[in-house]
Amino acid sequence: MKTFVFTKENEEKFQEQLKKYPNSDAMMLPCLWLVQEQENWISPEAMIFIANKLKKTPIQVYEVATFYTMFNLKPIGTYHIEVCKTLSCMLMGANDLIKFMKDTVGIEPGQTSEDGKFHLSAVECLGACGGAPMFAFNGVYKENQSVESLKKLVEGCK
Ligand code: FES
Repeated sequence: MKTFVFTKENEEKFQEQLKKYPNSDAMMLPCLWLVQEQENWISPEAMIFIANKLKKTPIQVYEVATFYTMFNLKPIGTYHIEVCKTLSCMLMGANDLIKFMKDTVGIEPGQTSEDGKFHLSAVECLGACGGAPMFAFNGVYKENQSVESLKKLVEGCK
């Protein structure tokens, strides 16, 4: 079985964060974020690693990781595009962005492109409704988007 360990840099970040949180329950989310930052997803091996680090059981880590939709529970593409599908974005053209990804990259929400480059998600409101339609690109918000701007972004990643 593969094992997971933090990189030296992430181990240092973990040790720093440990000082900020009162107990291992509070450390669970920061720890999951660190794992996802490192691997792009939360593997079963990483859940066991976190459990050992925080003196929890693996199922306790699993419960938290599966509760929040922002944690990837399987490997995703290098570029994660999360298109907001909620009202403001939907009215301003989110479906066109999703259709563009299907027509040009060949992926629908929840899918990763064959070359492993792109992963598309359709997510609930990301709290940037004033900039609709918007999506997050590897976690960075891109507001007031259009099919043309998305096309430019995708082409720049190829
Ligand atoms: S509706 Fe899209 S960010 Fe709120």
